[in-house]
This record gives sequence, C-alpha cells and structure tokens, in this order.
Amino acid sequence: MIGRLNHVAIAVPDLEASSAVYRATLGAKVSDPQPVAEHGVTVVFIELPNTKVELLHPLGDKSPIQAFLDKNPSGGIHHVCYEVEDIYEAREKLKADGMRVLGDGEPKLGAHNNPVLFLHPKDFCGTLVELEQVPKAS
Ligand code: CO
Repeated sequence: MIGRLNHVAIAVPDLEASSAVYRATLGAKVSDPQPVAEHGVTVVFIELPNTKVELLHPLGDKSPIQAFLDKNPSGGIHHVCYEVEDIYEAREKLKADGMRVLGDGEPKLGAHNNPVLFLHPKDFCGTLVELEQVPKAS
C-alpha cells in the first residue's frame, strides 16, 4: 500500500541553527522557513536526492509539536511520511486492520497541499506516521 518515503520530520528547538547545520555542514539544499499556521508549525524543507527532511519548529502557543520538544529539548525525529495513491482507500484498509487514525479521521491538507492523515504511534513501532496522497507520476 505505501509507496515512497516522502519525508522525515525533525522537531527542532532552534530553526536557524538547525538550518545552518544542514546547509553549511551537511551541504544540503535548504529552504527558507515557511509558516504553516493551520498546523501550528514553521517548516524548513531540505531536499535530498531521494527524499526530503523537514525541520519543524512550534508556531503559536498551541503548537502540536510543543509537547514533543518539552520531552525532547534538543529535538528529535517527530514523524515519517509515506506516500499513498489513494488516502481514503488507505484509511479504510488501516481501520479494517484495527489501526488508529488520529484526529477526526478526515484527511487535511498538509505542508505540500496534498491530503494527509496521521496514524497512532503505538500501532506503528512507536513512530508517528503521516500518510500523504501523492498523485502517481505519469
Ligand atoms: Co510531515
């Protein structure tokens, strides 16, 4: 069902310092910070030849990643994102298998303007999983 690894998301306490590590030390292509208000995060996109890394920093007082950073003050891997062709079909298959979809279970537009869903970490090896519907390249 799942396709490519779309991105690995890393929550960071200092977006500027972390961007500098990826840009200057690791030599990656790093975007400017982009606020995504509806998800309560500021995101920096790092493009690698085969996938992406996203640095996440809390935006606003109700950011969903604040609790994670409180527990992991130096930052850490927050979630992995896998691509699916049809997010509704994926959701039904997962629910039929007893997996928990977070929130109200309805796909929301993610940072790339594609529909996304999040899956309960306890059902996936202790890792928060994001599914993103990405149209198959034709
Ligand atoms: Co993500």
